[in-house]
This record gives sequence, C-alpha cells and structure tokens, in this order.
Amino acid sequence: MAENIVWHDHKITRAERSVNKNQKPCLLWFTGLSGSGKSTIANALDVALHKRGYHTFLLDGDNVRHGLCEDLGFSDEDRVENIRRIGEVSKLFADAGLIVLSAFISPFTSDRRLVRKLFPAGEFIEVFMDTPLATCEERDPKGLYHKARAGEIKHFTGIDSPYEAPSHPEVSLDTSSMSVDDCIEALITYLLQRELITRKD
Ligand code: ADX
Repeated sequence: MAENIVWHDHKITRAERSVNKNQKPCLLWFTGLSGSGKSTIANALDVALHKRGYHTFLLDGDNVRHGLCEDLGFSDEDRVENIRRIGEVSKLFADAGLIVLSAFISPFTSDRRLVRKLFPAGEFIEVFMDTPLATCEERDPKGLYHKARAGEIKHFTGIDSPYEAPSHPEVSLDTSSMSVDDCIEALITYLLQRELITRKD
C-alpha cells in the first residue's frame, strides 16, 4: 500500500445503503473451468433475482478483461492480480448494497480464500461449477480448447494450466447433468434458506 493513505469512513454505511435497497448484500462467486457454465448460470440467476425486484450486478471474466483488467494476461501472476481486483470491486458493489454475481475461472484456492476474507461470514457464497473437463471441452463454445490442444494457446486452464477445485463450496452445480432451471432452483433455494433473499409471493 502507498504511504500516507488514511482510511476515511463514509457517512452512509454499508448497512444503511442495504436498508434503503431493502435487501441483504452478498457475493455469489462462480468458479470453474472455461465452458463450465459460469456466465450462463450467473446471467440466468441475475435475471431471476432482477425479476424478483432485487438490485444486482454481474461481473464476468470475458467482459472485465476488456476494461478494468485489460492489462492482464493468463500467467499465474496475472490471474492472481485479476482475482484480487475483481474481489475488491465485488466488495465495493456489495458495500453499495447490491447482490453481486462474479463469474471468473479463479483457478487458485488461495485467491478465492482472499476474496472470501473480504466479506462478513455467510455473505461470500462460493458456487463451484463442477462440470467435467470432457464436457467443457466438447462444448468448446469459443473454440479455445481446440486451440489449446493444438498448442496455439499456452497456459489454458484445464489443459496446461491448473484448476484447483474448491473443497467446501457453498453450492456445487454440474451443468452436464443439471439444466439451467435446475441450477437456478438450487441457488434460489440456498439464498432463501440462508435468508439472503425472502419469498416475495
Ligand atoms: S482467470 O483465470 O483469471 O479467472 P478469467 O475468468 O478472467 O480467468 O478469464 C477466462 C476467460 O478468458 C475464458 O472464459 C476464456 O474465454 C478466455 N481465455 C483466454 N485465454 C485463456 C487461458 N489461457 N486460460 C483460460 N481462459 C482463457
């Protein structure tokens, strides 16, 4: 951290912001291989929550890498910095009172743990997209696995760069056996059980 920087408390607190929005902020952190369904499920949950009147925001690897993280590549070092930045941005959005959905491969356990630590207990929900590599590779929506196997992309997650699966995720979803609706139902059920959202019907 730079020297001579002093934290300045805001007059409106995180709690006051969320009371105005009539919701509890939290971060749903989607982690998994490329093609495992992170963006699809995060988007579908975003729509489901938005329709129920919740204030949400979605952060997604492919999009954030066009702006905030456009200077970063896919070396281990750059991925660490990518996740550090997204963790901090996710926290800012949650401090603004929003339900945040972040979808990043985030291959390293230690980085995900650092993001978890930024949040009060129960407000970081790790969603592990536990879709087998074979399925992700078969889908290959962007043709990147094909290129990685051909050696045209180096350090591709699951091929020649590691993915450390979460050992105790709050929610696990395997999109090779679960439909989008199944996944959304599992997530909504989790959020209701933890009283992060309420039944509005
Ligand atoms: S992370 O590892 O730093 O969390 P992030 O989620 O931001 O990755 O970006 C992943 C997306 O970048 C993938 O969905 C894929 O489209 C693209 N990509 C390009 N090169 C790679 C690579 N070497 N490994 C993984 N994903 C890559």
